[in-house]
Amino acid sequence: MATLVRNKHVVQRTWRPMPTIVRGEGIYLYDEDGNRYIDSASGSSVVVNIGHGVREVADAMYEQSKLVTFAAPHLFTNRPLQQLGDIVAERAPGTMRNNCRTWFGCTGTDAVDSAVRLARQYFLAKGQTSKYLVIGRWQGFHGNNIAVAGIHGHTFRRKPYYPMYQHTPHIPPAYCYRCPFELTYPTCRLKCARALETAIHQIGEEYVAAFIAEPVVGAALGAVPAPDGYFQTIREICDRHNVLLIVDEVMTGWGRIGHWFGIEEWQTTPDIIATAKGMSSGYTPISATIGKEEIWQAVEDTQIPFLAGHTMNQNPVSCAGAIASIQYVEKHNLMENARTTGAYLLQELKKIVDEFDIVGDARGKGMMCGIEFVKDKATKEPFDPKMKVSSRFEMECLKRGVSTFPCTGCVEGVAGDMALVTPPLITTPEQVDEMLGIMKEALRALQDELL
Ligand SMILES: Cc1ncc(COP(=O)(O)O)c(C=O)c1O
Repeated sequence: MATLVRNKHVVQRTWRPMPTIVRGEGIYLYDEDGNRYIDSASGSSVVVNIGHGVREVADAMYEQSKLVTFAAPHLFTNRPLQQLGDIVAERAPGTMRNNCRTWFGCTGTDAVDSAVRLARQYFLAKGQTSKYLVIGRWQGFHGNNIAVAGIHGHTFRRKPYYPMYQHTPHIPPAYCYRCPFELTYPTCRLKCARALETAIHQIGEEYVAAFIAEPVVGAALGAVPAPDGYFQTIREICDRHNVLLIVDEVMTGWGRIGHWFGIEEWQTTPDIIATAKGMSSGYTPISATIGKEEIWQAVEDTQIPFLAGHTMNQNPVSCAGAIASIQYVEKHNLMENARTTGAYLLQELKKIVDEFDIVGDARGKGMMCGIEFVKDKATKEPFDPKMKVSSRFEMECLKRGVSTFPCTGCVEGVAGDMALVTPPLITTPEQVDEMLGIMKEALRALQDELL
């Protein structure tokens, strides 16, 4: 039994008491009572790509902190920052490779916020001052500040702040299991992608600056990859209408789906990338907004600085941690493992769909997978949200030693339960078996309660 703690001076992500984690090693976390948890979602939300307790990363940060931990970003540059900029450029997708610049921040949210600012500043620089709108997608998530809440499409996380942000247009998601157009791939001819062109026509391209999407939708849809051809079609539409394509690689970046950047799976080069999480594997907060060289050059030509930024941006210790984490991914061939063990994981999750009445779908790419719960498999009817099925699954797993990430809202933002199954990229097939064995016990207990 774990000792559950709720410190009265600390506000946490839930109001319930929690075990205290004191140590992590590989795919495992340990609490203060010595209980072990398999980290099935890589630190809750697809963060700890290289697993816990990697000495090289801790050492790199320690060495850098002995030299210098902070130097005013408006006056100085620093060596880890420059090295990380080169590393990112060498790994950027398509024509961005060695043809981009990166702005480093602290969180995924500020990377998205900076991506949106960059799009706006670019069009101001080009004299196309009416272009400001960013089109997002329903059931997509891009971060947790007030401005970004207007752009993402995660209803539960937007609703409380509804009167406080700028309302931006949204198109339906690419979600084949519950196609918003009730069509079937490929005869649908990617109507979900073509919906972007409809929106641009209806709004007027002179107002649209950018379109933003996740290659594999994480928290809002439980690991739903866009179908083949989706981003190629989106790219063509953006090009036709002078609209920038921003991809949100906060979850999908840094090897998660078997490439440095998830968008490579669709052989598409975006204009701007926002990324974070796996970049440092959670060893330190860091994020990046990567833009094509020509976009940054246009902004630089105005001689107006890029007007984003936070005090802790470009932190040398964080940059050193990210460099070591990226090098670890490379040295241990983790992108290859994301592809192969990820394929095995998905295959085994699909067996769970056959085995359990309450699991309607398993989907994913690389080591980014998820399952969706249904009350009725034939009709795909979701459970009543009041039953809190994904939270109950989370608790059943936690009791048995697996930490998971529950998601809700795949059905029009108001219903639908899912869980991400996104273990660290170091996970072996044997560890997948161990993890899924425990998840199946949790599913059995939950199914007995629900049906
Ligand atoms: C796709 C995506 N974008 C942006 C964010 C925001 O990142 P952060 O929580 O680091 O601000 C998240 C967080 O879960 C995310 O999943």
